[in-house]
Amino acid sequence: MSQRQLFVTTALPYANGNFHIGHIMEYIQADIWVRFQRMQGHKVDFVGADDTHGAPIMIAAEKAGITPQQFVANIAAGRKPYLDGFHIQFDNWHSTDAPENHELARQIYRDLRDIPEVQGGSLIERRTIDQFFDPEKNMFLPDRFIKGECPKCHAHDQYGDNCEVCGAVYAPTDLINPFSALSGAKPELKSSEHFFFKLSDPRCVAFLEKWTQDGKLQPEVANKVKEWFTVRTNPDGTTSEGLGDWDISRDAPYFGIEIPDAPGKYFYVWLDAPVGYLASLKNLLDKRGESYDAYMANDKLEQYHFIGKDIVTFHTLFWPAMLHFSGRKTPNNVFVHGFLTVNNGEKMSKSRGTGLDPLKYLSLGMNPEWLRYYLATKLNSKNEDVDFNAEDFMLRVNSDLIGKFVNIASRAAGFLTKRFEGKLTQSFGEQGTALLNDIHAAKESIAQAYDAREYGKAAREIMLLADKVNSYVDQHKPWDLAKDAANNEALHQVCSLLINAFAELSRYLAPVLPSLAQAVEAFTGTSMQNWNTTGYVANIQPYQHLMQRVTPEQLEALFEPPAVAEEKVTPGGEEIAPTISIDDFAKVDLRIAEIVNCEAVEGSTKLLRLTLDVGEGKTRNVFSGVASMYKPEDLKGKLTVMVANLAPRKMKFGVSEGMVLAASHADEKAEPGIYVLHPWPGAKPGMRIH
Ligand code: 2FM
Ligand code: ZN
Repeated sequence: MSQRQLFVTTALPYANGNFHIGHIMEYIQADIWVRFQRMQGHKVDFVGADDTHGAPIMIAAEKAGITPQQFVANIAAGRKPYLDGFHIQFDNWHSTDAPENHELARQIYRDLRDIPEVQGGSLIERRTIDQFFDPEKNMFLPDRFIKGECPKCHAHDQYGDNCEVCGAVYAPTDLINPFSALSGAKPELKSSEHFFFKLSDPRCVAFLEKWTQDGKLQPEVANKVKEWFTVRTNPDGTTSEGLGDWDISRDAPYFGIEIPDAPGKYFYVWLDAPVGYLASLKNLLDKRGESYDAYMANDKLEQYHFIGKDIVTFHTLFWPAMLHFSGRKTPNNVFVHGFLTVNNGEKMSKSRGTGLDPLKYLSLGMNPEWLRYYLATKLNSKNEDVDFNAEDFMLRVNSDLIGKFVNIASRAAGFLTKRFEGKLTQSFGEQGTALLNDIHAAKESIAQAYDAREYGKAAREIMLLADKVNSYVDQHKPWDLAKDAANNEALHQVCSLLINAFAELSRYLAPVLPSLAQAVEAFTGTSMQNWNTTGYVANIQPYQHLMQRVTPEQLEALFEPPAVAEEKVTPGGEEIAPTISIDDFAKVDLRIAEIVNCEAVEGSTKLLRLTLDVGEGKTRNVFSGVASMYKPEDLKGKLTVMVANLAPRKMKFGVSEGMVLAASHADEKAEPGIYVLHPWPGAKPGMRIH
């Protein structure tokens, strides 16, 4: 087969959080495919990027008190440990906020806007629409940031697009008593000009009907997409005929790409997100000194996107239409996978500990290739959900991967090293030769399975071959042969056959287990880079453990709910002061005082002048900053507590001979108010407080 040129992507993750196990599954799925294609001798460029734009990221950055650019840079800085950790080898990782993406998105838009009349005219239209506006935040509110009472079941605190209680779908304007989730303000309806991509144009409909129904898409995906050409659900829950136009603009403030010739208008995040695929590729080619235009002009170039089932609309309607009508190459295919569930479909939730935290997995010393192998056994070409099941995981890793496959090498290597100086024979006897032929004969069918993303099938075929090898071992029992030197030749044959079989199976598993394959390459001296490598292993290096077993303890620890992070509590807005001794406390003489007189202080809005009786046969003059809370008559005649041995302080309005105790929050603005202490009945002026 001639060498193919492939451009492969995975969906660009929002830069508002770390990767979760669902991302990792998609990347592993794509990475296996890419590695397989490379082993076939094809050229592949495999790129990813952060999806940085949109209101949620802008708002999250604002909350964190940093710029959106800084916010997404922080997220990007955390990507590497995940990718390296699971051997996911992107050729480039970029950002949709990079200059390449700004330029490309704007150019694609211009090309769609400026389609000449002879070709049917512009596919961009401006329309004025009414939308909820937050008068306090001064911004139009995305649906997710409007809440209110469900118009159907009257549940409170429901989002602007659908009710989580009864499942009703509606427009934000249908909510009862809507409020902004950002400021709490009552949103106002305000009109604004929006830009639409005319997906309902007959040109788009005709093109997309063909593009989505010509057999390239997975059958279940094509069928789902087909429905959208006849009926669609409107934001208010009603249905309309056929494809609707797509609102591609958002008003400032918005973190995004400004629309050409439209100041204050930005591309909706989903317009520029897939363009990020091209931007990341362009960035890679620039770094290599290659021409992006020449690369894209190659009509042999094949373009594939791995995505989840939730973003099919964007990738099978908007994206191909944007590319096609702007005069660009459209994807050859979009590969859709299902969701990853954990332990029998339980919905993932970090707090309940049912989630599978990828970094925790790595930090427990769990081998990334266990997960790669396990996911491979579960993945096929359909967009079905995949369940991670702890027991099943242990079984597949320990019984299949290690018990059936890795052990082949460990059973043979010792004899070869000790008895034959690591040298192998190439005569395997009749049965051995037949077994090796069987293994070679499966090469094509395993390759087809990988190519079709039927990794589960590939893994099953490989394990069936491993079973055959194991029955060969059981039949020939090298450990028995080794007992009698007369069997040396037979032992040599059996062990040599086993290592050759193992090398071949390792090559079949190399797309899934790249690190193990590398170790096998060093151990056997045969290349694991090329699917079609032929030839036999001539000698081996001393055997070193290739893979450990997974332990129940590791799995238990993996799913142990995270210890509830102790939130730092600051009572009253400030930490408790350092510990003092009882003697320290005794130094402070606190006494009950009667407020015999209280008056306002001229020239001060804060202070009251208190005349206090502490049973000394004379009164004291004390200023207290409580005027915001009490009128003089509120306090006059009341008992309170004072610090009686505080050194007198000269203040602007006179000398203060002590201090009245009053409580307030450290953050006056967050929680205003100051409250004078008041003893229970029975306390008398002059009594000391112990
Ligand atoms: O659903 C998501 O997570 C999006 N950030 C995917 C974008 S894919 C591509 F279009 F960028
Ligand atoms: Zn409801």
